[in-house]
Amino acid sequence: MKLRYFHQCKIFNCFYATLSSHILVLVLLLYSGHGVDVKPQKEPYLPDYEVYHNLSTLNIFIQNMAASFPNFVKVDWTYKSLQHRSQYLLHVTNFSSSKNYFIHDGMEVRKIQILFSYGEHAREFFPVESLIFLLKNITQGASALSESFQYKFSKFILTNFDLYIIVMANPDGRFYVEMSDNYCWRGTSKGVDINRNFGWEFGKKGSSSDPNDEEYRGPSSFSEPETKVFTTITERNNFDVFISFHSGTRQIYLPFADTRSKLTHRIPDNLITLTKLASALSVSTAHKYQFGRTSELTDYTADGTSFDYMAGVKHIPLTLAIELWGRNNHVGPSCFDQFNPQSEQLQREISDIHPLYVTFFQFTLKWKTSSVIKHQVQSLSSFIQVHYLLTGCLLIGIIVLLVQGRLLFCHRLYSRKHIISLRSLSSTLTYWGFIKSV
Ligand SMILES: *[C@@H]1O[C@H](CO)[C@@H](O)[C@H](O)[C@H]1NC(C)=O
Ligand SMILES: *[C@@H]1O[C@H](CO)[C@@H](O)[C@H](O)[C@H]1NC(C)=O
Ligand SMILES: *[C@@H]1O[C@H](CO)[C@@H](O)[C@H](O)[C@H]1NC(C)=O
Ligand SMILES: [Zn+2]
Repeated sequence: MKLRYFHQCKIFNCFYATLSSHILVLVLLLYSGHGVDVKPQKEPYLPDYEVYHNLSTLNIFIQNMAASFPNFVKVDWTYKSLQHRSQYLLHVTNFSSSKNYFIHDGMEVRKIQILFSYGEHAREFFPVESLIFLLKNITQGASALSESFQYKFSKFILTNFDLYIIVMANPDGRFYVEMSDNYCWRGTSKGVDINRNFGWEFGKKGSSSDPNDEEYRGPSSFSEPETKVFTTITERNNFDVFISFHSGTRQIYLPFADTRSKLTHRIPDNLITLTKLASALSVSTAHKYQFGRTSELTDYTADGTSFDYMAGVKHIPLTLAIELWGRNNHVGPSCFDQFNPQSEQLQREISDIHPLYVTFFQFTLKWKTSSVIKHQVQSLSSFIQVHYLLTGCLLIGIIVLLVQGRLLFCHRLYSRKHIISLRSLSSTLTYWGFIKSV
């Protein structure tokens, strides 16, 4: 609504509209330290689509990858937005092996089940580009020489992980950004922020009922078809990890972000492991990431988010939201440069944060295998207990038999032979003597 007005207004009105929208943005920024108006802004620069992917080059990239690496990448095209654009649900693993487990220290461990979500917010291009880089890295390495480090890294990922990826959770919003050149747009084609539309603390004050607000939550939880892929895939799979990727700052959020959790200081499951993971990720690159429980890290609250839902309802053990990139010195109301690096810097910024993914995979493998070993040790110790019990019963049985004198004959033969060889062992003799005396 506001947008149409902006485009049609007369020059004089436009001046006031622009001025007031800028003031509004400044007030919002000062007030929350976070919010950005969704109205079009004057952008100091726009992305170069020879460098950044737009929806059509992204589509080509995914088609080519699926066609070139059918053993490693499968695409489910069926999940779609309101306007029927694919959200590209990828499944990345080594499909030429039929096993759904890997071997660790001689034990079978179920492949680690991961769900990554990208593109929930239309204006955040950077995370999607970092994913494309990761996918190129994995697929190219898999066809490199088998002694090379590239190959070993890809094999490590493809052997140990079942990686599911929602590449573009909100393609209609992205389409709107590309068509309108409004790089502040965050929601869907209806302006719904799908990261407020999930069924966890839906409708509370860390979201908005106003369709013109950038945190518009929609009429009811899961009202938007864009959330369908999230609920369906988590019903089908038992995930170990969920991560929702964003940009705008460098921060790693632990659950929970909702208003009630901030009041009650709600603590997520696995707080210790989550903190270890976030802490490892925060120093994995040349840039330091802040991390912590969202309720402690931020002043604002967010209700109905995807990652709170995955942690609170689905109980996925390792759940995070990661803001991969931000511009420290950003000023003014422009958006593209606030959420994304300039085209000329994109490749460098992406390779800079790539180690965060590497650390993530190493950490989760270690976490998974050590929890399996712990489990194994527990069952081993109960096995040993049973073993002792049986041995004890057996000994008691033997003693009872001996007491009844049934083994005496056998024993006499046996002990005579051994008394000679074991002469020096007086205790042994005493032992046999004891038995004889019985
Ligand atoms: C997307 O980017 C490509 C490459 O720059 C360009 O040829 C194409 O016209 C763009 N598509 C749209 C719909 O803007
Ligand atoms: C993929 O990333 C890993 C870790 O940074 C690196 O060692 C490897 O060489 C990369 N592979 C390719 C094909 O670039
Ligand atoms: C994929 O699995 C097959 C069959 O187990 C194996 O021969 C191949 O080396 C694996 N490839 C990679 C890249 O992991
Ligand atoms: Zn975001």
